[in-house]
Amino acid sequence: MAHLRGDDKRQYVAEMFARISPRYDLMNSLMTGGLHHRWKRETARFTAAGLQGAALDVATGTGDLAFALARCPGIDRAVGVDLLSEMLTIAANKPAASDKCTASTSFIMGDALQLPFPDNAFVCATAGFSLRNMADVPAAIAEMARVVSPGGRVTTLELTPMPPGIRAALGRLYFHRFVPLMGQVVAGDRTAYTYLPSSVDYFLTAEGLAEVYRQAGLVNVGYRRLGLGGVALHHGEKPR
Ligand SMILES: C[S@@+](CC[C@H](N)C(=O)[O-])C[C@H]1O[C@@H](n2cnc3c(N)ncnc32)[C@H](O)[C@@H]1O
Repeated sequence: MAHLRGDDKRQYVAEMFARISPRYDLMNSLMTGGLHHRWKRETARFTAAGLQGAALDVATGTGDLAFALARCPGIDRAVGVDLLSEMLTIAANKPAASDKCTASTSFIMGDALQLPFPDNAFVCATAGFSLRNMADVPAAIAEMARVVSPGGRVTTLELTPMPPGIRAALGRLYFHRFVPLMGQVVAGDRTAYTYLPSSVDYFLTAEGLAEVYRQAGLVNVGYRRLGLGGVALHHGEKPR
């Protein structure tokens, strides 16, 4: 199903995440040994560094990256947007949502391909582990660039095909054999966790995604690999 495009992909993805939402956080923690929290903190800190104002997390899901942004110095408000009320309800009920030490965090339903915000509304925008699920990746990056103000930052944290080698072979074994089994046992949904590794196979290379950033008009574009190389943090800036 990772080959789907357009509205078919949007619908498939929406139904899948609605189904797995109750076990989504637990599965993330099990699959990454808890590392996804560290990667999200790192992404938020990098994204918000030196900026002051409101931050956006696109396709926020259960809100971890939005909360991480809200904890960054300089960020006075974080907004998480997602297609699904099932995911956003979990986000809004997390203890972090009422944590008085963080900037205020709010969640709204919306489509990453048509963000419900005016141009230049945020100092930065992030998206975590969601681009692979989008029907149109260039449109998603272009929308993030549109709502960020000049001098602001766009970043994405995403699974990425690994360069060929022993790590890639081990990664494939883990993702294609072990993860679907874990999905079946823990989330009761082998199909969703078979889609996950396939969606990486169909996704852009890290360099290909960097090129999408450049095509969206972003500058100082770059990326670095995390987690043995299977995760990439891409970044770019909107020209002043
Ligand atoms: C794998 S989850 C990632 C959630 C969260 N960002 C994280 O890092 O844990 C993918 C999320 O993307 C959302 N999503 C997929 N397509 C979307 C779109 N077009 N607009 C908004 N959200 C979308 C799904 O509803 C889901 O919550």
